[in-house]
Amino acid sequence: MNKNIILIGFMGCGKSTVGKMLSSKLQYELIDADAYIETALNMKISEIFAKYGEKWFREQESFALECMTDGEKRIIATGGGAVETPGNREILKKGGTVVYLKSTVDRLWSRVGNDPKRPLSKDLNGFMRLFNKRKPVYEEWADIIIDTAGKNPQAVVDEIMIKINNL
Ligand code: S3P
Repeated sequence: MNKNIILIGFMGCGKSTVGKMLSSKLQYELIDADAYIETALNMKISEIFAKYGEKWFREQESFALECMTDGEKRIIATGGGAVETPGNREILKKGGTVVYLKSTVDRLWSRVGNDPKRPLSKDLNGFMRLFNKRKPVYEEWADIIIDTAGKNPQAVVDEIMIKINNL
């Protein structure tokens, strides 16, 4: 099994934490999309949004996703909006096994609501609207769905391993 594992899901669902643990368990390289974009552009995500807007950020994100998925044995922790454009969804699907970390909007908001590093978590209404719009898209494009409710990151990692081995 050399296929990349691509973690998708809304802001705050645990993609980075679970990604790190999966990476050390499988000895796969970890690539975090937001960190990749920040390094490539030498700017923080919040600065990119403020200076150039979301549309431009999405273009950079698409290019980054193409580069990141061009390889194998990688754990790729995407940004919550990686499924926003149809082009990105195809890139993800082609790029590896897509794992959706599912959580409730209440839990997500309690984790990342008003986080200054996350430009799209500034108000609860907007956050909920975005969540409701994306939820069916995550579900449709995932190869594996993990309901993270009541599970610690280790339990989530164990479940991912079982489900990947059963694919
Ligand atoms: C975004 C999620 C963020 C980051 C950017 C946009 C989104 O990543 O890519 O702020 O559109 O949901 P995380 O999901 O890691 O917070």
